[in-house]
Amino acid sequence: MTDLVLSETRDRIAILTLNRPDKLNALNYALIDRLLSLLDLIETDDGVRAVILTGAGERAFSAGADIREFSSSVAEGTDAVLSDFVMRGQRLTARLEAFRKPVIAAVNGLAFGGGCEITEAVPLAIASDRALFAKPEIKLAMPPTFGGTQRLPRLAGRKRALELLLTGDAFSPARALELGLVNKVVPHAQLMPAAFDLARRITVHSRAAVAGILTAVARGINQSIAEGLLVEAEQFARMAPTADLREGLDAWMERRQPAYDGSRAHRPRDAVRQTGRVGTSP
Ligand code: COA
Repeated sequence: MTDLVLSETRDRIAILTLNRPDKLNALNYALIDRLLSLLDLIETDDGVRAVILTGAGERAFSAGADIREFSSSVAEGTDAVLSDFVMRGQRLTARLEAFRKPVIAAVNGLAFGGGCEITEAVPLAIASDRALFAKPEIKLAMPPTFGGTQRLPRLAGRKRALELLLTGDAFSPARALELGLVNKVVPHAQLMPAAFDLARRITVHSRAAVAGILTAVARGINQSIAEGLLVEAEQFARMAPTADLREGLDAWMERRQPAYDGSRAHRPRDAVRQTGRVGTSP
C-alpha cells in the first residue's frame, strides 16, 4: 500500500511529503491520521530538530480536503461529518500550529482549501514561484473547516481575508507573501534548499529556546497582550534553570560560539555552587 505521507530525516531535519500526487495530494482521513501519527513520533525524537512539509509530484502541495470522502460523511449526517472530517482537520492544523519543533511548509504547487489552511497554521512557510493559493470552499457552498475562517483574518486582516474567502479566487505566491501567509517566495528549484537553509538557521540554536518561542507565540497570539505576556514569562521561567540558557549567556560573555546540549534538565544546584557555571557541552 502506498505510504500517504513519506518521511525521511536529513541532517536532523524531517521531511514529510504528502503523497497522493494523482489526487493533487488531497487530504483524505487516512493521510491526515498518518501525518498526525508522524508528528507524534517526531515530537519525541531527539534526532529531529525541525520539520519540512511538502507535497509529492509536479503540481500540488495539497488541493485540500478529499471532497469525495467528506461528501460521504456529509451524507451520513452532521455528527458524522463533524467528528470524521471537521474535528480531524482542525486537530491537524492545531497540532501544526502548536508544534514544539519548527515546521516549515515548502509550498511546491497548488495550496487550495486545506492545503492553504495548513500553510496558514504552520509557523513558517516558503513558496515556490509555481505555487498557487485559494480558499475555494465557497464554490462548494461551505465555509472552510480546518481553521480557514480564523487564521487567515488574523494573519492578513479581516477585509483582505474575507475577499479571498467570499470569492474563492486563486491568488499568487507574491500575494501570499504580501498577506503574510508565507515568509518568502523562491524559484521552484530553490524551494527545498531554501527550506533547509531556514531550518538550519533555526536548529543551530538551543532547541529548548526554540520550543519556548514557538509555544509562546502559538499560545499567546490569540490571547490578550496581558495574557500573552504571562505565557512569555512562563516560557522564560521554564528556560531559566536550564543548562542551555547558562551556556548561551556564558558563551556571549566569553566571546565564543555556544555549544548546547539541548537539555531541559535543571542545573544541579551543587554544580552551580562549586563551579559557578555548568552546562557547557563537551
Ligand atoms: N478532493 C478529492 N480529489 C481531488 C481534489 C480534492 N480536493 N482535488 C483534486 N482531486 C483529484 C481529482 O478528482 C482528480 O482525480 P481523478 O482524475 O481521479 O478524478 C485529480 O485530483 C486531478 O484533479 P483535476 O480536478 O482533474 O485537476 P484540474 O487541473 O482539472 O483542477 C483543481 C485542479 C485544483 C482546480 C481542482 O482539482 C479542484 O477544484 N480541486 C478541489 C479544490 C477544493 O475545492 N479544495 C477544497 C476542498 S474543501
